[in-house]
Amino acid sequence: MSMFPITRMRRLRRTIIRPLVQETHLRVDDLICPLFFDETITAPILIPSMPGQHRYPVSMAGDIVHNLFSIGIRAILLFGIPKHKDSVGTSAYDENGIVQRVVREIKKAVPNMVVITDLCACEYTDHGHCGILESESAHAMNAAELDNDKSLILMEKIAISHAQAGADIVAPSSMLDGVVRSMRSALDREGYSKVCIMAYSSKFASTLYGPFRDAADSGYSYGDRKGYQAPITNRREAYRESELDALEGADFLMVKPAGWAGDIVSDICAFNIPVVAYQVSGEYAMIMAACERGWLQREVIMESLLSLKRAGASLIITYFAEEVAKSMTGCSDYDTN
Ligand code: PBG
Ligand code: ZN
Repeated sequence: MSMFPITRMRRLRRTIIRPLVQETHLRVDDLICPLFFDETITAPILIPSMPGQHRYPVSMAGDIVHNLFSIGIRAILLFGIPKHKDSVGTSAYDENGIVQRVVREIKKAVPNMVVITDLCACEYTDHGHCGILESESAHAMNAAELDNDKSLILMEKIAISHAQAGADIVAPSSMLDGVVRSMRSALDREGYSKVCIMAYSSKFASTLYGPFRDAADSGYSYGDRKGYQAPITNRREAYRESELDALEGADFLMVKPAGWAGDIVSDICAFNIPVVAYQVSGEYAMIMAACERGWLQREVIMESLLSLKRAGASLIITYFAEEVAKSMTGCSDYDTN
């Protein structure tokens, strides 16, 4: 018997063989580009904690989306920053609200762009929480308890107004119990049975949303989100949340922050519903900061996205979408050489 290895993995790693055995690919169609629109501005403003990302005025919506579509981006995720906030998030379902106006502009300019709307109250409430609060006494106790069922009614109203404006997919991100079910029946009742629901099913309470809260002006004034977002320690609980959303009729399941939750992405592929990984603002900020300092090379971006695909994600929401789509021009599969 020879003392040398019979199987040599290195044979498959020769430069010309490698592409033949590549198991995971990233295509431009896998990318969803988040965008922030601000009702109070007339020119774009940079988001300090997210270098390269902006808040845009409504007037630019058509052009921005046209540009994204021309580089191959098929879907965008919209966030709105409204002029008015109150304790019950009224401006979130105003038919002339920021998101509703932007959706109409985009659908006029680029009808085939898939428009996904983030559906939450935190940008629209003066306290910054993701729904209607239980009571003022909670405030006094420095804890934030959402009135789940009252908040469900609010989410239904927002969903209907987004669908009316032309959204293709609504993405409830408040982690309310029963939100997928109540939203599905509200949409169906109003004649929007074709509008999909992308459920933020495994949304962990995470510090990685910090830069986003600057971007969307959705920081909370007291308490935290641990009463409604999932604990990062609990894998089985995340599975159960996802299972519930699947049973309630979600068309997509989402996991965030994605980079630290490859196990969850992999687990919930079991439901055979497309899994969406959200590479969040803090992940973007970390990568950008390290690249700006020269501590990491920009290839890290592809590495981060490909590993989410390897975990099983069908789609990835990432602030790198535009940059990555541009780098793929002419060729839909990422060239790993
Ligand atoms: C709204 C919402 C948040 C994010 C997406 N939708 C913030 C939060 O829940 O605190 C985070 C996205 C990101 O960090 O990129 N609820
Ligand atoms: Zn929220």
